[in-house]
This record gives sequence, structure tokens and C-alpha cells, in this order.
Amino acid sequence: MKREMPPGGAVDASVNARAWNHIAAQHTTGEGTGTVPERIEWTCWPGQGPGAEWIGDLAGLRVAELGCGTGEHIAYTAAHGARLAIGVDVAEQRITQARARFGHLPRLDWRVGDAAQVLVELPGLDVCFSIYGALWYADPAQLLPAIAGRLRPGLLAFSVNAPRDGELPGRRVDNLTLTSGARLPVVHYSYGADAWRRLLYEHGFTGTEVLPVAGPDHSPYRTLVIRARHGA
Ligand SMILES: C[S@@+](CC[C@H](N)C(=O)[O-])C[C@H]1O[C@@H](n2cnc3c(N)ncnc32)[C@H](O)[C@@H]1O
Repeated sequence: MKREMPPGGAVDASVNARAWNHIAAQHTTGEGTGTVPERIEWTCWPGQGPGAEWIGDLAGLRVAELGCGTGEHIAYTAAHGARLAIGVDVAEQRITQARARFGHLPRLDWRVGDAAQVLVELPGLDVCFSIYGALWYADPAQLLPAIAGRLRPGLLAFSVNAPRDGELPGRRVDNLTLTSGARLPVVHYSYGADAWRRLLYEHGFTGTEVLPVAGPDHSPYRTLVIRARHGA
């Protein structure tokens, strides 16, 4: 199937793929068999926020993670009964690491590419989820319709950082610092709770729930854990 991508999406995806391929190269996480985590962590603060119950019973479901990184969470869904679990990441090296860690698990498949483009080629899904993944790095105006097209019906569950105090919502460019000290740009799309409710409503999602999770004391970061249904 032909992948068509508006120019903005292609630029963002290539900037972000470059950054995450460099991050992959500096980490050895990909070496050896991985351990399936005991819970799904929706935030970067272990134990904070909900666990797998944010999705619900995985038995028999077709699930995709958009921006799966080194694969822990999509591996969790495969190990907890998903009929089909697909890890998608724009950075080829991250998928190479994910395969090396969890490729031995049954019913688990991997795709490299921008989530909005890869989704077009996937089978119908019951659950799409993303943990600081594609929903935080790609334009929701392109990604949400692609997700909606795959959920028939189904659940979208994801976590993103909210804008920091004083930051305008929308597209912004940050820098990731490598261990070498080099700084690489990444593109984010950052929205607050009300903006996410509106975006999801505009793309036909219903029953939106937004759970704000605060970081440790004095942290400028706040994570939004969100779920909504489409096609129900
Ligand atoms: C902060 S990491 C999170 C990885 C994983 N979800 C986790 O919690 O460990 C973000 C991941 O999203 C991927 N990503 C960024 N933009 C993407 C896009 N448009 N489509 C698919 N993956 C993307 C990056 O390559 C990276 O692996």
C-alpha cells in the first residue's frame, strides 16, 4: 500500500528517527533477552499513575504500541494474552533492539516507520497505546485520523507530557543531550488536558478520560495519562 505523508510529518519523523537512532546507539539495552515488566508504567516515575488496568483485559485483543522504543510494554501485552501485538517505532535501531530483547515471544510483530504511515498497513485493532511515544512526537492532526481508521471499534490509551508552565501548546523543538554531550533536536507536540479533549472529540473519539500525574516535588513536568474510545 502506498504511504503518503504531508511534508511536515515527513520532516518531523525524520528528525525524530535520527535522534532516537543515536539514543539507541549509546545504550546497550538491546543486548540480550529482555525481561517483561511486571506492570505497564504510563509515566517515567515508577509506580505513579495507573497500570495495565488503564487498558483492561488484554486477552484475545489485537494491540499496537506507537513508539514502542525497546519494546517492554508491547511485550507485556503479548505476555498477557493479546492475540496479536505489534510494536511500531520510527527509529530502526530501536526496533532492532526490541526484536533482540523480545523477538522470542509468540504473537509479537514489529514495524519500522512513522506511526501515521504504518497504521494504514496494519490490520484492524482493538487497542492502540503509546507511552511518551508517537502521540507526543507526531502531529495529532495526522496521527489521530490514522488511529481512528484502525480502531473498529477500539481503545486509544496514551501518555504524554503536558506543556510546562508558560509554554505555548503545539509543535515545539527540544534538544536531547547524548552521553557524548552532543545535542540533537527532537520535535514534540505538546497539549494540555482541555486541548487533548478537544482534539480527540474533533477526530470522533468518545468517553475521553484524562488523568494528570505530577512529577516528584519541584519537577517542572506533568504527565497526562489519557484514554478514549473510537467507533463504539
Ligand atoms: C521517549 S521514547 C518512549 C519509548 C517507549 N514507549 C517507552 O516508554 O520506553 C519515544 C519513542 O517514540 C518513537 N517515535 C517518535 N516519533 C515517532 C513516530 N512518529 N512514529 C513512531 N514512533 C515514534 C521514538 O523513536 C522513541 O523510540
